[in-house]
Amino acid sequence: MEVQLNLNPLLEMRFGEMRFGEKGFGGDLSPEIARILGRRTIRRYTAQPVDPQLIDVLIAAALSASAKSDFQQASIIKVHDPAKRQAIGSFFPTMPWIGTSPGFLVFCGDPRRLEQICERHQHPTPQRDIEAFLNASVDAALALQTFILAAEAAGLGCCPISVIRNRVRAVAKILQLPSGVFPVSGLCFGYPSDPGHVSMRLPPSVTVHADTYDDSSAAADVAAYDARRESRYPTPPEKQRNPAKFGHAQSYGWSEDKARQAAEPEGQEFNDYLRETWFRF
Ligand SMILES: Cc1cc2nc3c(=O)[nH]c(=O)nc-3n(C[C@H](O)[C@H](O)[C@H](O)COP(=O)(O)O)c2cc1C
Repeated sequence: MEVQLNLNPLLEMRFGEMRFGEKGFGGDLSPEIARILGRRTIRRYTAQPVDPQLIDVLIAAALSASAKSDFQQASIIKVHDPAKRQAIGSFFPTMPWIGTSPGFLVFCGDPRRLEQICERHQHPTPQRDIEAFLNASVDAALALQTFILAAEAAGLGCCPISVIRNRVRAVAKILQLPSGVFPVSGLCFGYPSDPGHVSMRLPPSVTVHADTYDDSSAAADVAAYDARRESRYPTPPEKQRNPAKFGHAQSYGWSEDKARQAAEPEGQEFNDYLRETWFRF
């Protein structure tokens, strides 16, 4: 069903700006688009279990995502075993939803399957290069996001969990992932016990370009975004990231926070693991 929707309040929530004029967007739209504009990550869930059949339907939707060259290099692990959930969750005590959400999946890149197919057909095997890594990762990411959108349409809330890659050796052991199958992201899901909030995004003036890439106004636009975002969701002084290292900033916003976060190296174990187990780059 297509209906005339006033998207302005949703765009205002998402970007803090950007309007299609007073009357809003002029065309007809599926309400699904409005739902996507208002989507948000959910990390707190009721105890209500998720029907296993519904999970399978959502996985079928996830596997309907586009796949590079039809190589179909995503694999999904359904983590049911409470001991495995508990073990994975125990590595990340600051994210208790990892061990406790009603549902948990791990979306993996799987170049191993394609290599085995080549071997069975007695053809040369693919390069284990950056292209191969990216293709399998993109397939897994598209399946992940397609699952999320389908799950949200079914009333569930979701939270991707890439932090599992920081303990990839232990996670791979628990899930018995063979060489050539690597986790891209976990996914917590369940029925929301809290509505969450729309996370404001950088404005399209920063992230969208016409014909040629142009970031000449990015510094000013990011500063304005920081101010808009802080005015909606102010960061209390005690929430400033790592003040012992970076001090307390007078004016703190998204870009200061992300610069502090990015200054801490992350992912060395994953990088080493990929090279030791499969890839040659
Ligand atoms: C690939 C990926 C990995 C993520 N990993 C984690 C994670 O490990 N833990 C977590 O709590 N949130 C994680 N998130 C959720 C992001 O923090 C969240 O999407 C972001 O803050 C934007 O919020 P929104 O999805 O509500 O718009 C991840 C999101 C993505 C897309």
